[in-house]
Amino acid sequence: MKKNNKRAFLIVLDSMGIGEMPDAHIWNDEGSDTLGAIQNHPEFNCPNLAKLGLFNIEGVKGEKAPMPSASYARMHEASLGKDTTIGHWEIAGICSEKPFPTYPDGFPAEVIEKFEKLTGRGTLCNKPYSGTDVIRDFGEEHIKTGKLIVYTSADSVFQIAAHEDVVPIEMLYEYCKIAREMLKGEHGVGRVIARPFEGVHPFKRTPRRHDFSLVPPSDTVSSLLKDNGFDTISVGKIYDIFAGVGFTESYPTVSNTDGMDKLDAVMERDFNGLCFVNLVDFDMVYGHRNDISGYARAMTEFDQRLGKVLESMKEDDILIITADHGCDPSTPSTDHSREYTPMLVYGNKIKPGINLGTRNTFADIGATVLDWFSVSSDKISGSSFLEEVSDITDSKLLDMAIEARKNSYSPYSNFRVGAALLSKSGKVYKGCNVENAAYSPTNCAERTAVFKAVSEGECDFEAIAIVGGKGEEPSELCAPCGVCRQVLAEFCTGDFKIIMGTPENIKVCTLSELLPYSFGKSNLE
Ligand code: THU
Repeated sequence: MKKNNKRAFLIVLDSMGIGEMPDAHIWNDEGSDTLGAIQNHPEFNCPNLAKLGLFNIEGVKGEKAPMPSASYARMHEASLGKDTTIGHWEIAGICSEKPFPTYPDGFPAEVIEKFEKLTGRGTLCNKPYSGTDVIRDFGEEHIKTGKLIVYTSADSVFQIAAHEDVVPIEMLYEYCKIAREMLKGEHGVGRVIARPFEGVHPFKRTPRRHDFSLVPPSDTVSSLLKDNGFDTISVGKIYDIFAGVGFTESYPTVSNTDGMDKLDAVMERDFNGLCFVNLVDFDMVYGHRNDISGYARAMTEFDQRLGKVLESMKEDDILIITADHGCDPSTPSTDHSREYTPMLVYGNKIKPGINLGTRNTFADIGATVLDWFSVSSDKISGSSFLEEVSDITDSKLLDMAIEARKNSYSPYSNFRVGAALLSKSGKVYKGCNVENAAYSPTNCAERTAVFKAVSEGECDFEAIAIVGGKGEEPSELCAPCGVCRQVLAEFCTGDFKIIMGTPENIKVCTLSELLPYSFGKSNLE
């Protein structure tokens, strides 16, 4: 049997926040707005993101697309954190109630002593430090003594810097694994990071940085997809952020450009599942270094590459673009900022231009991706917004009619009917039959639905699904009665769709097939 290739592409623009969250003051991030800081820079030019609807998102300033091609939301971080790991975990469905531990005064003596004992090497620094400054200030001593440079930042990280000639890269990774094993529970930092460097003073960091993350405490979108037999492909540091849990393939990257090259290559392939991408330069190269023009340029480059991504999308693809936190390059702070993030969802099967407002948690993204693959999202946080952005299929509408039938009030006939009426605005109005002891005031399910809709101001309809029968399950084909056909003809054109039968055996016809030569408004004109 041919596998159907349904694909989801989830791109995280690392640190692309869109404005302070209501609790930003607690994090000393009042006024932070990463996108706001770069969007007016002369080197910022992002027509593709604008067309998708980036500037239509609640709270985002800038010129709105009159007809955005994506649907969009502002995402609120439910977790207590503004860290890469916490942000990505939440996107994937895990909300963290406690931030990971940070060490503004360095690690406690017992942690350092244990690490020194386990590695057999001394340590230097043990303070929060900038990664480039730390090798400038401690590099020489490290070379002389062989002691490891251990430092942290405002993030929950245990970083080990070492010169590649002094500590071979594999050995550095080994030391990181020792630290990772050791730093659990109370000292369970988000990441242990290998920070290799090379050359002579001024030293240069090498691209062999490697992150050793905490293992996610529960299921994620990718672990659940993997468990259900889907492909789960990591591009960039995603694999590391999840400590490798839940991925069938991983393509590490050295830059945003490399990330986009790898994404292009994955898009060329047939696969069935999720491709989860992180573009880290925004954060690592520009955000943390307060480089506004660099950040603006990087967004412009991404936008250019996005053009090709949009062209490469196939019928059954969905694309979601979001971020994990902010890192406003225009504020004095070089650290992450507690910000809302953007969410753009795009695809052939996704309705354009739906404003999903502000969502309570990034986890709604993970839940939506699971929903896209029809995998239950019960095991993760968040609720799917797929229904709000999907065209309603015949079988979905029939399911809604089955749902409506549960309320049927039919004590006299015991013939239970449910209907689901789809308006052109995308809303569904459900109805059931409501019987009466005097028999004639009985209202059919279809008319209940139509009257509900019209009384709410809706008069344009696309389709109706109808199910009926005497038993628990709708059994027979229940076509609308003559009166209901006449009422439908009042509001619907001849091509209005009527969906009947059971989920196993759906029958579809048009109103003009069921009511040819009808009497209507035009006769009275
Ligand atoms: N009924 C409907 O709800 N829709 C139809 O189109 C046909 C009939 C209901 C009305 C009544 O409560 C029961 O089915 C038996 O006629």
